[in-house]
Amino acid sequence: MPPVAYIQDIAQFDGQDVTLRGWLHNRRSSGKIHFLIVRDGTGFIQVVMSKADIGEELFAKADHLAQETSIIVTGKVRADARAKGGYELTGTSFEVVGESVDYPITPKEHGVDYLMDRRHLWIRSQRQHAILRVRHEIIDAVRDFFNSRGFILADTPIFTPSACEGTTTLFPVKYFDDGTAYLTQSGQLYNEANAMALGRVYAFGPTFRAEKSKTRRHLTEFWMVEPEMAYANLDDTMTLAEQLVESVVARVLDKRRPELAQLERDTTKLETVKTPFPRISYDDAVERLKGAGLPIEWGGDFGGTDETVLSDQFDRPVMVHRYPAAVKAFYMKPDPQRPELALGVDVLAPEGYGEIIGGGERLADYDLLLQRIKDHDLPQEAFDWYLDLRRYGSVPHAGFGMGIERVVAWICGLEHVRETIPYPRMLYRMYP
Ligand code: 4AD
Ligand code: MG
Repeated sequence: MPPVAYIQDIAQFDGQDVTLRGWLHNRRSSGKIHFLIVRDGTGFIQVVMSKADIGEELFAKADHLAQETSIIVTGKVRADARAKGGYELTGTSFEVVGESVDYPITPKEHGVDYLMDRRHLWIRSQRQHAILRVRHEIIDAVRDFFNSRGFILADTPIFTPSACEGTTTLFPVKYFDDGTAYLTQSGQLYNEANAMALGRVYAFGPTFRAEKSKTRRHLTEFWMVEPEMAYANLDDTMTLAEQLVESVVARVLDKRRPELAQLERDTTKLETVKTPFPRISYDDAVERLKGAGLPIEWGGDFGGTDETVLSDQFDRPVMVHRYPAAVKAFYMKPDPQRPELALGVDVLAPEGYGEIIGGGERLADYDLLLQRIKDHDLPQEAFDWYLDLRRYGSVPHAGFGMGIERVVAWICGLEHVRETIPYPRMLYRMYP
């Protein structure tokens, strides 16, 4: 048999015979010639089969191949400017590996619920293929960004004894006989301990929120990358955040143009994502929203519409800093000039994609932090280890969390985060 090739490398085999191992994506026939679209996970290619090339028996068999039948095809690679991807295969032989009977996702249109129920099969489609490859690139870019800057990957636990982002959105888990554990909402608290040990660190893993939000931006399980830096403040956080976002977007534009084209993404809207990003205060943001006619009062958190209206005023992500402390988490450092404000920042993506990053400077003072834990009615014992970080060599420190799925949705230009992860978990969706 000719050498095995992956479709993504097919250009290297121009004019040669190769073996492709994949699945039949689609098929049509002119009577004299069969056109098979074959996919192998790395790409899609058209295989052209004529009776003269593959013989009468196989030619007849090819006319009955069903969608998603797994097949091994051999043939000659041929450059063809009209072909998607630039190459075709002239088939000379094939063998069926596994039959596929009545594949439920046909080329016709299906409703979203129908597709979500068959997500394990839906991910075989061309569009999902493109999205998941962009997701891969984004994650790879994130890792490269931190690794090349000397950050140490120090992962944080998923089973935790207490809340990080507020007690209302915790998922409890029975932890053996005598305890309840909670699925982590954020690795931040442990990340702070790691930063005191290793200087600059990042955690990257799944996080969980029992949010009863049924919006296009919310999952109950999502992936978050969280850098944390010792001896750093709010400005350092904003600088790191804008550099990360710029670098991730540049990487996808560099490596995943075909995928963005498949998704019909308007890439001119991504080309403008260059540092510096605008930095506006919460006060300023409220004025802008009032100016746009929105019914916002100083003191409240922003809703999805507020974020969209604000981000529409800029051609790149905007960083909103110094929110009212009352709407932010207990661990945020108050602004020394105006203690009613928290030294936090949200990064809002353009085009209505909303908040992709949240973070800021942490409260490093023991007494103030203890007070905040009490004010928030949090169980003090559970935070004793966290208070230790303020007992033993406390330093100013800061960091943020970036939600991967929201970034994928934005960069791919998707309507909803449900397509950004292979198996989304949402308020009404845990299957498959
Ligand atoms: O703003 P959040 O809640 O911040 C934190 O959890 C901090 N402790 C992170 C830190 O400073 N280390 O969440 C951070 C990001 C959001 O900006 C958003 O991108 C994403 O996580 N996110 C969600 N993504 C999908 N579904 C949800 N339900 C999300 N909740 C937050
Ligand atoms: Mg937030």
